[in-house]
Amino acid sequence: MAAGAVQPADARTPLLEEAGLSWQGSSLAVQGIRLTEIADRVGTPVFVYNAEIIRSRYRTLTHALAGIPHRVCYAVKANSALAVLRVLREEGAGADLVSGGELARALAVGFAPADLVFSGVGKTEEELRAAVSHGVGHVNVESREELAALGRVADALGRSVSVGIRVNPDVTAETHPYITTGREGIKFGLPVDQVREAAAWIGAHSRLELTALAMHLGSQLLQPEPYREGAKKLLDLLRTIRTDGADRLRFLDVGGGIGIRYGDEPGLDPSALAECLRPVLAGTGLTLLLEPGRYLTGSAGVLLTTVLYRKHSGGRDFVIVDAGMNDFLRPSLYRAHHEISEIEAGAGRGTVAPVDIVGPVCETGDFFALQRSLPPMASGDRLAILGAGAYGFVMSSNYNTRLRAAEVLVDGGRFGVARRRERVEDLLALEQADPWAGGS
Ligand code: LLP
Repeated sequence: MAAGAVQPADARTPLLEEAGLSWQGSSLAVQGIRLTEIADRVGTPVFVYNAEIIRSRYRTLTHALAGIPHRVCYAVKANSALAVLRVLREEGAGADLVSGGELARALAVGFAPADLVFSGVGKTEEELRAAVSHGVGHVNVESREELAALGRVADALGRSVSVGIRVNPDVTAETHPYITTGREGIKFGLPVDQVREAAAWIGAHSRLELTALAMHLGSQLLQPEPYREGAKKLLDLLRTIRTDGADRLRFLDVGGGIGIRYGDEPGLDPSALAECLRPVLAGTGLTLLLEPGRYLTGSAGVLLTTVLYRKHSGGRDFVIVDAGMNDFLRPSLYRAHHEISEIEAGAGRGTVAPVDIVGPVCETGDFFALQRSLPPMASGDRLAILGAGAYGFVMSSNYNTRLRAAEVLVDGGRFGVARRRERVEDLLALEQADPWAGGS
């Protein structure tokens, strides 16, 4: 394709727009910077996040919620890079955490402890201690035994704790079975019929105060109705519990889950979600808590990778790239669809043909796309895997002793390395070939 030519409209066009990417001549660029320049300077694989998109997502969401008293707590698990957390903290977001490690990250970038929600189905007492001693806004508990542990921690530290109960409202939300979380018979949340008793237990504890009812129905939800259904169930419960005497109960936490566009299907529009929840909350005096992760960061990130080799085998064409399932697991784990784009429009190298884009990891499941129609590629070409800003780097591993990718933040027309690429010394430093050498 000649320089200056416009890319033909295809499924990727809206995704590129949502990522803040545009063709500058024959190069794909972010905030005026060619992705090729970033790949040349930082190497590949590299995750590239666009801070402007993260901000505009946050603003779109809070704008949609205008008129509903609310607080947005970013689900740190989606992308916990300090540079990304800082952007969202500066926007005024709170944070939703699921581990002591995420708590440390949130504190490191200056989130006020009161703006933090500590969620998670299996917090250790040590993690609860850290959360309580820092004075996090809410601890969302998910079992009676966890509640007892939290009570012990509060007593031992002599601190009062605002508690949320994460309820399993038994609402079915359509998404991948691994990420549906609000149905009966899965590990998350307290079943509805145990909530009143848990609330009474909290009420009887001198240092615990029930301030929130919470739910999280699942991730990548594309319809708003399950939120309405779940919120109604929570409200019914909340009214009962208030009658029992929990008069500080004033937060309704509807969790995260706002779905984004990965292919043809548009994401869940935050206005549709807000309009669904508005009538449910009207007149209740409650503050809505939301814990979006993917919505804020997913579309804002791409994973850049370089073509290593090609081969033809068993009637299929393979393109082997330098990123693997250890870098970006979603396609392998969920069979998730991620669009892939060349970052330099090929100079008339022929027509599109189906290829398998695969990584170097020793697993047949190590693929990013199967039988995807893409223009012909050659060794050294770069590709961008779209929609990699959430559940990308955070789910990466060192499988095959592969070094985890670098992360780059683009902001104000410049880019900076938010996390340098790992070195093999980083990994070896944690190990002892002979665990008994050098003393006891
Ligand atoms: N709140 C709670 C309690 C959660 O468990 C989660 C996600 C969220 C909020 C944020 O959900 P989001 O808004 O990002 O959908 N690895 C999977 C997603 C797992 C989500 C786990 N919980 C994926 O790559 O699709």
